[in-house]
Formats: sequence, structure tokens, C-alpha cells
Amino acid sequence: MSNEKVKIAVFVSGGGTNLQALIDKQKSGVITSGEIKLVVSNNPNAFALERAAKADIKTAVVSRKECGTQLEFEDKLIALLEENGIELIVLAGFMCILSEHFTAKYPKRIINVHPSLIPSFCGKGFYGLKVHEAALAYGVKVTGATVHFVNEIPDGGEIIMQKAVEIEDGDTPEVLQKRVMVNAEWIILPQAVEKVSRGLLERTTVDNVR
Ligand code: GAR
Repeated sequence: MSNEKVKIAVFVSGGGTNLQALIDKQKSGVITSGEIKLVVSNNPNAFALERAAKADIKTAVVSRKECGTQLEFEDKLIALLEENGIELIVLAGFMCILSEHFTAKYPKRIINVHPSLIPSFCGKGFYGLKVHEAALAYGVKVTGATVHFVNEIPDGGEIIMQKAVEIEDGDTPEVLQKRVMVNAEWIILPQAVEKVSRGLLERTTVDNVR
């Protein structure tokens, strides 16, 4: 790693409120060891792209639909990351599953935020509002968010941070989603990004001293 901050890419698909939390926490000094250099969306209409542009962050769109195969999609993403010297990838509401072809290239360098306490309500098919619908249907009284490293198993990588959120009587999936975002995701994702970035910087310093 050549400079003093870890170069971060954030992958998004939709509203981008987690991206916004990262941008805000970078400005307020919670994230100091890394810098968001690139925002990548699979969806050209994602509002997250507007948030990035407003914060003067470079953006790119790689549409899964326009790529013939998953391999082609992932190779395009890898080329973009290499062109931009990216060292850490943050999946913040990125609604595409990445195969081992991609994840094996970045061991402990991809992190994801998931809106439940893993191992509950996670894995293939559990994303966005569906996660909160499932938690309410099951009747759990506590849910939350998890930030974890990404490997080839959907939502199966090592856990970095978790935060619990209580379910209240009368919650709808939308109300619960907002509470989990405000009280858990927007707090632990920036903290985890700082923690992992700091770890990567410390590792480089140790390597340089050797
Ligand atoms: C967030 O709740 C995020 O945890 C979830 O989608 C939402 C995206 O919102 N991600 C997943 O479900 C991934 N499995 P955002 O675009 O406003 O950050």
C-alpha cells in the first residue's frame, strides 16, 4: 500500500443510505484510515450514484444484465478495481451475489453489511425488506445488523461487528428496516470500515519495517 490511506470502493444498488453514512463519517473523522475513491453500481438509476456525485466521488456503472455471464460481470468489476488501485471493497446495499472467482481475489478485503443478526435471516434470497419481513413473520423480539467479511458463501464470512435492535409491537417491515438502519447499520458499518482499514495500514507498516 503506497499512500497513507486505504483506497476504498463502495458497491451499491439502490438508495445508498449506508454509502451516505460512510461519506458523513469520513467527513466527521470516524473514518480516517481509508478514503472512498470509487462508487460502483450495478443499477444505473441508483440514487446512491447521486449521493456519490454530490460528494465528488468517482462513480461507475457495471450492469449485470448487460454482461453475458457472471464471469464477465466480475471481470469488469475486477478491471475497474485494478484501474483505480482499490485496496478495500465495501458492499453497502449491493444486491448482486459475487462468486468465488471474485471473492478469492480479495481475501479479508471485502466487507458487507447485512440487516439481521447473522446467522439468522441471511444467505441467498435474504436481502433488503425481505430480511425484515422474515424476522417479523418468525416473531423474533430482537434483530439487528451484522458487518462481515465476504467469502464465497453468501453472508457466510467472518463477523466483524454486530449490533442488536429491539422489535416493537406493531412494527411493519418498513418501520423495522428504518430502525435497524438508524440504530445499527449506519453506526457499525463506518466503525467496521475504520477498523479494517486501520488493520490494513498497520499490516503495511509492519511489512515495511521488516
Ligand atoms: C440495507 O438495509 C442493507 O443492509 C441491505 O439493503 C439495504 C440497502 O440500503 N443489504 C442487504 O440486504 C444485503 N444482503 P441502502 O441502499 O440505503 O444502503
